[in-house]
Amino acid sequence: MPKHKITMIFEDGRSEMIEADENDTIYMAALRNKIRLMTDCLEGACATCKGQAVNGIYTMDDYSDEALSDEEAADGEVLTCKMRAQSDCVIEFPYMSKVAFRVGAKTWGCCVKFIEKVSSNVVKLVISLDENEKSPPVFMPGQYVNISVPGSDETRSYSFANAPSSNGTLSFYIKLLDKGVMSDYLRERATEGDPIYITGPYGRFYLREPERPILMIAGGTGLAPMFSMLSQMVDLGMVQQSVHLLYGVNKTSEIFGLDEIKDKFSNNLKLVYETTCLVPDEEWSGATGYVTDLLRPELIKESTDVYVCGPPPMIDAVDIWLTENQFDKKFVYAEKFLPS
Ligand SMILES: Cc1cc2nc3c(=O)[nH]c(=O)nc-3n(C[C@H](O)[C@H](O)[C@H](O)COP(=O)(O)OP(=O)(O)OC[C@H]3O[C@@H](n4cnc5c(N)ncnc54)[C@H](O)[C@@H]3O)c2cc1C
Ligand code: FES
Repeated sequence: MPKHKITMIFEDGRSEMIEADENDTIYMAALRNKIRLMTDCLEGACATCKGQAVNGIYTMDDYSDEALSDEEAADGEVLTCKMRAQSDCVIEFPYMSKVAFRVGAKTWGCCVKFIEKVSSNVVKLVISLDENEKSPPVFMPGQYVNISVPGSDETRSYSFANAPSSNGTLSFYIKLLDKGVMSDYLRERATEGDPIYITGPYGRFYLREPERPILMIAGGTGLAPMFSMLSQMVDLGMVQQSVHLLYGVNKTSEIFGLDEIKDKFSNNLKLVYETTCLVPDEEWSGATGYVTDLLRPELIKESTDVYVCGPPPMIDAVDIWLTENQFDKKFVYAEKFLPS
């Protein structure tokens, strides 16, 4: 019996991937993995087990239209006590993960492999899983983990910059603040081999099945999750959709990642990119201003998946622009790099 990968994402952003047999309901498959989805009747009558299937092919056993109307079903809402997966699926649940799990999110032991300064204020942190870790984190491109800061009790959130397929080696692009717990560690103390823990994965910001043209809007290290998504598209040969990437930085010296964009992504995907700099140096001949200044209505066709990531004011500015230009936000996905 074929098995499919089911990714479940909860209100707090925690996600878990399980395998489900086509014979199993999602509720049963979760239970076999010690995940207790919210249920009551198990008869398709009460709607307690309702979730939102974001993608995937599935069938539904008989259920009451009191629990799930035709309109809700057409919109991808599902009763997980009656749902059987026919392909890999992603399902979002409107409640916190602690309702379904007895144990906290998974933690992996890792160590620093190397740190590379890639611009005046960004470092690339590459870590590798400890040898005794049996399996790498299973995540969707765009998601993040909490990383422990060695020498402190603190953790900070960082988006994966690598594709999920890169197994035990994980990359992150981290902005160095003038003063900050992680920033100070990376600037002053970080050494190859330092032990580090990661917990997760988390996040509702992830690459949807590329069925529509894609617009990515990244501010500074907001480029990291876009790299993860683009790498996944290259790895899986998702080359049919056009991707337009808008990338903004404050100063020219802060630009990073352009070589990767040119060599890896432009050469393998239908990718067009534009870079803008708020306060350029004399040699800069590209666009100037905020990344939102690059936005224009023709970049968003009737249905375009829009991914936005970066500092909160940038996300808010994109949101205002979309509202002012009367764009439907149904296919807009955003990750704010909020301070801890
Ligand atoms: C879901 C998520 C994903 C994230 N992914 C990334 C990522 O991939 N790359 C990345 O660089 N960051 C990312 N961040 C931000 C990151 O988690 C930290 O907030 C940031 O790296 C600062 O950590 P720190 O320990 O150096 O500073 P802290 O010790 O946390 O902060 C020190 C001081 O600086 C302020 N501060 C914090 N962040 C900023 C900022 N951006 N600009 C100005 N002041 C600030 C704080 O309010 C505090 O006063 C993400 C945040 C979230 C919520
Ligand atoms: S548990 Fe009642 S509809 Fe699924």
